Amino acid sequence: MKLLVVGSGGREHAIAKKLLDSKGVSQVFVAPGNDGMTLDGLDVVDIGISEHSALIDFAKEQDIAWTFIGPDDALASGIVDDFEAAGLKAFGPKKVAAELEWSKDFAKSIMTKYSVPTARYETFSDFEAAKAYIIKEGAPIVVKADGLALGKGVVVAMTVDEAITAAHDMLLDNKFGDSGARVVIEEFLDGEEFSLFAFVNGEQFYIMPTAQDHKRAFDGDKGPNTGGMGAYAPVTHLSPSVVETAIDTIIKPVLEGMISEGRPYLGVLYAGLILTADGPKVIEFNSRFGDPETQVILPRLTSDFAQNITDILDGVTPDIKWAEKGVTLGVVVASEGYPLQYEKGVQLPQKTTGDITTYYAGAKFAEDSKRLLSDGGRVYMLVTTADDVATAQEIIYKKLKEQETTGLFYRLDIGSKAL
Ligand code: AMP
Ligand code: GLY
Repeated sequence: MKLLVVGSGGREHAIAKKLLDSKGVSQVFVAPGNDGMTLDGLDVVDIGISEHSALIDFAKEQDIAWTFIGPDDALASGIVDDFEAAGLKAFGPKKVAAELEWSKDFAKSIMTKYSVPTARYETFSDFEAAKAYIIKEGAPIVVKADGLALGKGVVVAMTVDEAITAAHDMLLDNKFGDSGARVVIEEFLDGEEFSLFAFVNGEQFYIMPTAQDHKRAFDGDKGPNTGGMGAYAPVTHLSPSVVETAIDTIIKPVLEGMISEGRPYLGVLYAGLILTADGPKVIEFNSRFGDPETQVILPRLTSDFAQNITDILDGVTPDIKWAEKGVTLGVVVASEGYPLQYEKGVQLPQKTTGDITTYYAGAKFAEDSKRLLSDGGRVYMLVTTADDVATAQEIIYKKLKEQETTGLFYRLDIGSKAL
């Protein structure tokens, strides 16, 4: 069977590579993908994620069994609805279900209605009202653009002034475009963050190992927020009861709520959680796999990934199995300057072999050769599995030291919170 993955980053590389390793899968296309993926035998197709009809035509021509949708913006624009209307299967939520990610206000209202623990909040489109609320609540306080802002629309304000400036930027200065036409202002939650993912079909869900992302650009969680600079799974220092509580108080009620709302969920549900003194609470829901969490979760899947997804799509109970031992850890290598301004075209080191996997996010062949050059903010990620976090760090950081990474940078403390 032939499969298609939509998206171009490290997440899609990990999804596509795992699918190609599955029995009965002869070919995996990635649209638009990136050239680094071809080193793993994946076929990249030059069609963008917003070109739904071109993607549908391609899937029909190639007799694709089903398509896995990676990115949030594709889901928010209704790509799954369009595939289904064309009689094609796609793994991901429809637009009305993906609203859990593309509108923070919607997500908050669902959480309130179905008693899912999350930060107290109010939504505003009027700046003066927002300002009055911030002054009343005091700092620290969190200001969020309502819509998709590629991870940049969140300001964790330590002072009232900072929060007012953020609300001003979003509501009056239009800094985040339409996504900031409304803002959600919420209570600051204190605690350790972790990500919990599940494969979902309606009420049925299958939890994956917990993972922890590192969102800030620099060591010690300093610097600007990024898409994510590294991750590891599972988060072994979280007690199993935390995960049980999260399943009972968060995953189950939100999925039942989505059914009651007439928006049954299919695909990967990503709960961004924070472990507060009162138990796990939701920071956000995403309607897709995380990047870079996917690159450390999927290598731990020991069952047949393509068969698992086929079963979930068919409403059959999948036989999903995960590695029980060890930890999988990965460090993202990004362009110097990311997430702000950065240069492209830096020559990349050789793809790793053996125990270290390279997942490419922004990589492109030089025009005259098959030398890989950097072509994005996040460029590639090295991932390995070892007995424990310290050993995995040793393996990855030794390899990174050997690599020529001029013009690129990476964090030196991925996983250190688990030590
Ligand atoms: P988000 O885009 O919603 O994931 O937010 C980005 C980051 O902001 C999160 O990973 C948290 O570190 C932080 N954050 C968001 N909401 C809150 C909150 N209510 N309390 C504390 N930190 C938060
Ligand atoms: N790792 C953060 C995200 O995918 O949104």
